[in-house]
Amino acid sequence: MTRPSLGPAGRDELGWTLDRHILERQRRIPGASGDFTGLFQSIALAGRVIASKVSKAGLADVLGATGAVNVQGETVQKLDELANNVLVRCVEAGGHVCVMASEEDETTIPIPPQYPAGKYVLMFDPLDGSSNIDVNISIGTIFSIHRRVTEKGPGTERDCLQPGFKQVAAGYIIYGSSTMLVYTTGDGVHGFTLDPLVGEFFLSHENIRIPKTAPTYSINEGNRSKWTPGVTKWIDTLKTKDAPGGKPYGLRYVGTLVADFHRTLLRGGVFAYPGDKGAPEGKLRLLYEAAPMALIAEAAGGAASTGRARVLELEPTALHQRVPLFIGSKDDVALAERFLADDA
Ligand code: AHG
Ligand code: MN
Ligand code: MN
Repeated sequence: MTRPSLGPAGRDELGWTLDRHILERQRRIPGASGDFTGLFQSIALAGRVIASKVSKAGLADVLGATGAVNVQGETVQKLDELANNVLVRCVEAGGHVCVMASEEDETTIPIPPQYPAGKYVLMFDPLDGSSNIDVNISIGTIFSIHRRVTEKGPGTERDCLQPGFKQVAAGYIIYGSSTMLVYTTGDGVHGFTLDPLVGEFFLSHENIRIPKTAPTYSINEGNRSKWTPGVTKWIDTLKTKDAPGGKPYGLRYVGTLVADFHRTLLRGGVFAYPGDKGAPEGKLRLLYEAAPMALIAEAAGGAASTGRARVLELEPTALHQRVPLFIGSKDDVALAERFLADDA
């Protein structure tokens, strides 16, 4: 029987699954243990389970709030809690991680003693964009993987508080019109689309590159009264003929970081959640929102800044510390930094 030939990049006609992509990466690393592959498969499984719950949230009584308030001082949505538990359950038994950290847990999440402690650290925002769950707007999951720095035994907070440039991998899953998993290990950014009938993620966006600039800015204009003068001047310039390219930029803002970043990654432009007079550190969390998105942005040829410093070089001091974020096309982030320099 003749079999269809392999595609141009050695891909078979059936599509290139996430598992195969990760396995091929493992084969290129001498002495790879398969631990990373196993961890990634657990994360992908969690993504598929959460996608299934999200797709029928209205029917499965996972809309609305639990009535609890998390360490962030935010009302915990049922889907926040469910996604958090799914990720912990899918990962903890695999023996690939020594400790986890989540937006929804005040302290680090230990690996139960009956399971081996692995060499990786997983940190995540299990459900990003919670305010959009009940109104059927795209939401997501964000994850960050580090190598442990402690020698052995249960992982500690020290294993979590590492600068972003040391991440082994970072990625997100966007639960939108389709479910996509986008990740990088630093050498290229790749997107996989879930075929819900098959239950597999298939390669759909190989080696994503972010345009150097694009006429779109993404910021919550409702916070204008709290912006610093530098941010106000920057945004006002983007809305006039003095904007790069000589035409005013367009505004796109979903209110889910994963969705706003995904659009920026594919189309270019800049997303910003600046600090303001009341909260100089802004709203977004460094370890499981800004740092993983920054690794992806830079691997795709873009940039990620606090407005003054490269996000990936920040030395974290606390699990849930917040950081201002300007992320997207290299030229657009650089322009923001020039305006913010006046705020110094
Ligand atoms: P989370 O739902 O995980 O708390 O994250 C929400 C974040 C982020 O997704 C988004 O960019 C930002 O909150 C939107 O904040 P505003 O509603 O203040 O614009
Ligand atoms: Mn979030
Ligand atoms: Mn969240």
